[in-house]
Order: sequence, then C-alpha cells, then structure tokens
Amino acid sequence: MPNDLLQLLGTAIWFILPAYVANATPVVLGGGTPIDGGRLFRDGHPIFGSGKTIRGFVAGLVAGSIVGVLQGLVAGQAYTYYVPLGLLLALGALIGDLLGSFIKRRLNIPRGGAAPVLDQLGFVVFALLLASPVMLPRWEVILTIFIITPPIHLATNFVGYKLGFKSSPY
Ligand code: CTP
Ligand code: MG
Repeated sequence: MPNDLLQLLGTAIWFILPAYVANATPVVLGGGTPIDGGRLFRDGHPIFGSGKTIRGFVAGLVAGSIVGVLQGLVAGQAYTYYVPLGLLLALGALIGDLLGSFIKRRLNIPRGGAAPVLDQLGFVVFALLLASPVMLPRWEVILTIFIITPPIHLATNFVGYKLGFKSSPY
C-alpha cells in the first residue's frame, strides 16, 4: 500500500478511536437498568429498548474519554485539545447509538435486530457532529472513517459474539 494511503488510514483510526471505544465498551460492561426505564413510546414499542442501559452509556463515556486523555499523553499535546475531543467523540457515539435504537424501534425492528448502515455508521456520524466545534478532520479523513467503520464494526461485533458478549453476530 502506498505510504500516504497508510498514513490516511492511521490518521482516521487515531481520530475516531474514542468513538470506537465508547461504542464497544457497553457490549462488555453494559447491562442493568435501561435508559428508557422500560417505558413505551406512543406507538406501543419501547422508546430505546432494553439494549440501551445507563451502565453501558456511562461506561462508554468514561472509556472513550480515557482514550482521549491517553491520546493527549502520547501526543504530548495540550489537554485542551484531546480531552474535550475524546469526550465529545464518545458522547456523540453514544447519543448516535441511542438515536439509532430509537429509529429502529419506530421501524418495528426489535432489540438486537439488524438495521444495515444505521447500525454501522449512525454512531460515527454523531461522533463527528459533536466533535466538529473542536475539530473536524479534512474530508479525506472523514471519507476514510466512513469506509473503514462498517467492516471494523462488523468484525468486532463478530468477535464479541464468539466471545459470548453479544447474542447476535452483527
Ligand atoms: N449496551 C448497553 N448500553 C448501551 C449500549 C449497548 O448496555 N447504551 C449493550 C447491550 O447489552 C446491547 C449490547 O451492548 O445488547 C450491544 O449493543 P447494540 O448492538 O447497540 O444493541 P442491540 O442489543 O443490538 O440493540 P438495538 O437493536 O437497540 O441496537
Ligand atoms: Mg445491535
């Protein structure tokens, strides 16, 4: 692979890493009380469903934010950049994931049911959106993030399924 393509890949993964970690952590550390408290929306379906828990949200937010702190340490750069960026990327990923579940419930897709594209990219769109006041990477980096995220998401979900953390392989 040409060097600049490799560098683009590295830049993309480095930037979006807090969002990835925030999205993956609830699979391992989540569970317990659902964010919607088990309440139904006016269409009779759950607001978010039992797969979106308070513990998962908090764990994802903390883990993603820790990645931001570590990135600041590694890069030796001012915390005024990496710490808020990590926090916003993590928060955006979790809000995007939550919104994805809200949309899925409105479409009659049960908890754990697949919603292609939405499942793989929704969290990344919101992570970038929330991070944008601090930093929006150049368009090639954003495009790379959109290209690599679905296969990475599917691969990590499959590993989570094989390890027994997830009930569905996607
Ligand atoms: N999880 C959690 N809290 C969150 C997000 C996720 O506890 N805020 C956990 C749940 O155990 C969930 C698992 O991580 O089942 C996988 O997350 P995801 O695939 O996003 O949820 P699904 O169960 O597929 O539910 P949905 O159909 O609403 O996406
Ligand atoms: Mg799912």
